[in-house]
Amino acid sequence: MLELPPDAYLWVKALHIISVISWMAGLLYLPRLFIYHTDAEVGGELSETLKVMERRLLRIIMNPAMILSFVFGGLLLMNMGAGAWQEGWLHAKLLCVAGLFGIHMAMARWRREFAEDRNTRTQKFYRFANEAPTILMVGIVIFAVVRPF
Ligand code: HEM
Repeated sequence: MLELPPDAYLWVKALHIISVISWMAGLLYLPRLFIYHTDAEVGGELSETLKVMERRLLRIIMNPAMILSFVFGGLLLMNMGAGAWQEGWLHAKLLCVAGLFGIHMAMARWRREFAEDRNTRTQKFYRFANEAPTILMVGIVIFAVVRPF
């Protein structure tokens, strides 16, 4: 396992939190763009502008932030040692993180469908999709900070 010197450990944890905040910002903003996009005329100026915004948000912010969340989270996990795997809070947290990863992949697919003018889902669907990352994030932060079990 890995033993981070105290200073490095705090820097890694700070970078972990910075990257998860950036990832969450994208997971909460992209469905908002999808909600407006469902109303935009196919081929129209608004639809083409939203395609550019969605692609840049996913590729320039969300993908790198997700990868860095996993890299710094993984370093923190290795620093905790093998005993960490006995911790119930970590199991619950990583289950929620797996949910966030699944939502990220679904959003990437939905973005591609909008880019190819193939979206068939409704505004109501994306409003629901917008709530899921929030619910998971609340769970993750409680498990990571309070460690209730
Ligand atoms: C991507 C996979 C992730 C892994 C492997 C991971 C792993 C970890 C580990 C092992 C710690 C504890 C470090 C310690 O106390 O020594 C931690 C702390 C933390 N994680 Fe994650 N994490 C991940 C994703 C996330 C996400 C997505 C969020 C928020 C949405 C998050 C929020 C936090 C917070 C707020 C802390 C600090 C807790 C504290 O210091 O009290 N993590 N993470």
